[in-house]
Amino acid sequence: MDRIIIQGGERLIGEVEVSGSKNASLPIFAACILTEGENLFQNIPKLKDIETISKVLRTLGVRVDQEEDHTYRIDAQGVPYCEAPYDLVKTMRASILVLGPLVARKGEAVVSLPGGCAIGARPINLHLMGLEAMGAKIELRKGYVQAKADRLRGAEIAFDTPTVTGTENLMMAATLAKGKTILRNAAMEPEVAELAKVLNKMGARIEGAGTSTIIIEGVEGLSGVKHTVIPDRIEAGTFMVAAGLTRGNIKLINCPLEHLEAVVYKLREAGVEIEPEGDGVRVIGNTRIRSTDVKTQPYPGFPTDMQAQFMVLMSLARGLSVITETIFENRFIHVNELLRMGANIRIKGNTAIIQGVDHLSGAPVMATDLRASASLVLAGLVAEGVTEVSRVYHLDRGYERLDQKLAGVGANIRRV
Ligand code: EPU
Repeated sequence: MDRIIIQGGERLIGEVEVSGSKNASLPIFAACILTEGENLFQNIPKLKDIETISKVLRTLGVRVDQEEDHTYRIDAQGVPYCEAPYDLVKTMRASILVLGPLVARKGEAVVSLPGGCAIGARPINLHLMGLEAMGAKIELRKGYVQAKADRLRGAEIAFDTPTVTGTENLMMAATLAKGKTILRNAAMEPEVAELAKVLNKMGARIEGAGTSTIIIEGVEGLSGVKHTVIPDRIEAGTFMVAAGLTRGNIKLINCPLEHLEAVVYKLREAGVEIEPEGDGVRVIGNTRIRSTDVKTQPYPGFPTDMQAQFMVLMSLARGLSVITETIFENRFIHVNELLRMGANIRIKGNTAIIQGVDHLSGAPVMATDLRASASLVLAGLVAEGVTEVSRVYHLDRGYERLDQKLAGVGANIRRV
């Protein structure tokens, strides 16, 4: 199994190109189930999760061809099958994104329940509640969700809490429903707005995506599109932290600054300089990091997907900071590993109290979640000595060539 070995202490200097967004690409792939025609997508990141959603689509009989590294052609002329099996869904929870499109297109879906994961229980009750409100009959059998509806009908649905994939699932289902659907307290993440943009190109009638109220007027059918996916805001944010930590000076090409307001605000508070420059964004870490508190929130708040990376920065800040995680109940998996590298962090419920230290020291570490693993790589970049990160497959799910991109800006990092 691959490991990443980092000799800490190098400043990061140079240019990094941000890849396409993972969490936008996944629902866009699922949306193809709704279309009778050929779709062409560009700027798709090269990731394990993209391979997994491609496999799920192929299992349904959809044709998925990778044309070049970042270009995919997806043809859902026919969708002969309606079952997403446990073996695939268990490797990636986002497979649940095929549920809404399948019921809408085929009148039937059988999708394995994803189960819990390392960062929390992650229920899908709100996805199911919404589909039921749209007239689907839902049964849970042998670990699978079975959903049936001759034709979904529009409904008014209010989420108890904003859910990203829940909003996406119901928005996709509603595009082919009879009548109007209103989603209230919807997730406002840029990936939701991006999906709506693609669905509208396909012929859907969606308004308000990117706000908390989304209105979808059902149509009779959708057709194929050509689309270039937005860049990945979490990958960009991760590189911003890397520059701040290493007192680096990097330019991020293709950086979605408009989707990173809360992150940029906090990084600037911590002393990291971030300014637009030509076709990119310049990030400079000049000074010792200052401590600042962070609370994760649904968008446009500070993203839970940046919490672990930000904690590494705070571990080396001057003073005390408090990080509160409000989205997932177990998203401090990185803390015990950071403690082994010399960080000073105490956990109380959903808050982490971090007393900045002068330095971290390299150690063998591992994590069972994508963003936690990324935070350990970041820690390795500044730690004294050698850090060995194992279970690298978590990183490969969501970061395209992270080790190579870091090496390209001067990190002493290799994969063995
Ligand atoms: N929730 C419910 N019931 C539901 C759905 C969600 O109670 O039916 C709760 C969750 O337990 C959680 C909150 O709602 O407390 C928000 O979860 P959400 O449903 O928004 O998460 P998700 O859609 O499963 C997506 C991203 C995650 C990201 C979260 C939060 C994708 C494919 N995944 O997950 O990304 O952390 O939103 O922003 O878009 C990652 O990329 O590393 C990752 C985990």
